[in-house]
Amino acid sequence: MTLIRSIPGAVSISGARSISGARAWVVTAGRSCAVLRLDARDRLLSAHWGRELGLEQAAALVGVSVPVTAGAAAPGFGAVGHGGAWPFEEDVEGPLELAVGAAFQFGHAQLAVRFADGTRELELEFVSALIENSDTEDTAELVLSFADRHYPLAVESRYRVRSGSPVIERRLVLRHTGSAGEEIISILRADSASWTLPPLADYRLSQVRGRWAAETRLHRSSPPFGETLLTSRRGITGHHANPWVMVDDGTAGATHGQVFGCALAWSGSWQITVERTSADRTVVAAGFGPDGAVWPLAPGEVLTTPVSAGIWTDGGFDAASQAWHAYVLDHVLPHAEELRPVVYNSWEATGFDVSLEGQLALARQAAGIGVELFVMDDGWFGSRTSDRTGLGDWWPNPDRFPDGLAPLVKGVRELGMDFGLWVEPEMVNPDSDLYREHPDWVLHQPFRQRSEHRNQLVLNLARPDVAEWVHEWLDRLVAENDIGFLKWDMNRPFTEVGWPEAGNGGGDLVWRRYVENLYALLDKLRAGHPSLRIESCSGGGGRLDAGMLARVDQVWTSDNTDALDRLAIQEGFAQVYPARVMSAWVTDSPNPHTGRRMPLEFRFHVAMSGVLGIGGDLAEWSEEELVTAREMVAAYKRIRPVVQHGVRYTHGNASGDLSGAEYVAADRSEAVVFVYRRERRFAQMERPVVLRGVDAGGRYRDVGSGIVHHGAVLLSRGLPMALGGGDPVSTMVHLVREG
Ligand code: DGJ
Repeated sequence: MTLIRSIPGAVSISGARSISGARAWVVTAGRSCAVLRLDARDRLLSAHWGRELGLEQAAALVGVSVPVTAGAAAPGFGAVGHGGAWPFEEDVEGPLELAVGAAFQFGHAQLAVRFADGTRELELEFVSALIENSDTEDTAELVLSFADRHYPLAVESRYRVRSGSPVIERRLVLRHTGSAGEEIISILRADSASWTLPPLADYRLSQVRGRWAAETRLHRSSPPFGETLLTSRRGITGHHANPWVMVDDGTAGATHGQVFGCALAWSGSWQITVERTSADRTVVAAGFGPDGAVWPLAPGEVLTTPVSAGIWTDGGFDAASQAWHAYVLDHVLPHAEELRPVVYNSWEATGFDVSLEGQLALARQAAGIGVELFVMDDGWFGSRTSDRTGLGDWWPNPDRFPDGLAPLVKGVRELGMDFGLWVEPEMVNPDSDLYREHPDWVLHQPFRQRSEHRNQLVLNLARPDVAEWVHEWLDRLVAENDIGFLKWDMNRPFTEVGWPEAGNGGGDLVWRRYVENLYALLDKLRAGHPSLRIESCSGGGGRLDAGMLARVDQVWTSDNTDALDRLAIQEGFAQVYPARVMSAWVTDSPNPHTGRRMPLEFRFHVAMSGVLGIGGDLAEWSEEELVTAREMVAAYKRIRPVVQHGVRYTHGNASGDLSGAEYVAADRSEAVVFVYRRERRFAQMERPVVLRGVDAGGRYRDVGSGIVHHGAVLLSRGLPMALGGGDPVSTMVHLVREG
């Protein structure tokens, strides 16, 4: 009989220790856990992912009946058993935790390779299990190591958890263990993780879909039997899909039900494969790279995949989103504790028609309504007076800024605002000095056309000289002009993806190297300018993901600033990413994209549920509008800590007549409630909004009306609504706890 012993020290993450020799493991993350085991042929299988199990329960699950000593069920890793022959039915279509497509495995292969002699079959042998603890960061990582039985390839499947967080971070590390001179191994596919769901009565997939100016729109549907591929083949995260999915059994709602989710921290092309087997099990694999790209691994080289983070929650979609938000805020974002300032951005007001006087005039008006950060957008450099020319020539346009940027920066700072600047470092217009000098610096393939989009080509950031050049001018620009904020734009997808100078294979490698160099560039720039803050933008929300969020401070959500459209876009954004990173501007009415007219207050209330910015042409706003704007900006500054750092609860859905969001401070001392009505059709539209996050025992004063509400009443009968007439219409209620 195999005995399970509690592992002394496995009771806390910081105390976890090596359990080398064990054949099954429990990875506990918050209230969730994953149980893994090896079968007799060293295949790593998933025994459980979901609600937390103690060691004894996990042992029972993997078929071992054992006594367990005290303390074994606490959070952390623990061995659940070790044995020679496992009493499991061999199930090659079963839930593989590391799917390599070997022998009778016919499903999606998370890891696929080709050795120099053409062999593709992987035969992995288990080598060791190691737990690496970091007391300083309160994290633990389980490293399961395998080696091919014959070829020089080592594979690690890594699981990282943090104390108190329900997120499990997974990745693969591949190592060529041969010596110099041996042949390379071709990596055909290396997904970071396969996430196996337990058998559910049904499966429902939540995802976001979109396109330019219509990003992150939430969609839920039942996945078909077979494989569903969510992907970007564009070199960027993309507007059309976002690298996360959530799966439930079809019955979860905002407040109830189990939700399983996984996301990928990668900002280039990616794939998420949702495989629903004919046996009605569902596995989700997440990985980087487009289909078909083959990456060489030379002797001594290591390939580490990006993190795929997985969560399990049982409080419905809001609990899942709250868990994602906490993860991004606590473990991904730099300086998450900061409050993002109110921004003014000149793009919609001026387009390319930029001048010193025009910018200063806008800056004066922006300062007058309380803006804290003034950002000059496109059109300030080189010969950039339209989108046809100048990209790549990063010096102030001598006609528009004969004395450089200094007079503008000085003027903006004298108005009490920080200064920010738009850049698009990865791009070049063929009509530019840069391209005339370095036509080989762009992504291209020999004997093929170079397709332009918005009259521009993509610089090959995978090239070290290009990456170095970008860092050099950005570093100088930021230092010389005392720039506090960059809006880092990227306005086209990759095409003709090639890197001829890197030889055969360069065109495949570029997909990965480009992103690695982009990350290195951002990291280096930030390290050199610790107070610099960055907004990720890619023609709106085309580069939004956890990889980017580890290096930027906020994300431009969409070029579509129509507040009604934004409700849907922001609803999808908020599924995984917190308000603290969601840039949202108030722009003009009628909206330049849709021609729709909307009240100024409504536009503000929609933007105030993220990081508020103003993007309208303030020169055209009436005195009355400017007064309202000043009041709304002041109100935002009061509620901002709750919105940017609080817990978000969803009310209704964005396509419904009535929807809203409730933000509650972590200590429940304050709450902010936004309610939006698209269309009034029936009297019941005026029903109260039943809050979810306030303290039942608290008394809350409405800052606007002075009325005091009891928490218990707000949680049961709700917050009375009187939205009045006219559509669309909205309200914002700020509640402060009095007792
Ligand atoms: C696309 C961005 O999303 C816009 O906000 C603006 O910065 C333009 N690029 C400028 O070219």
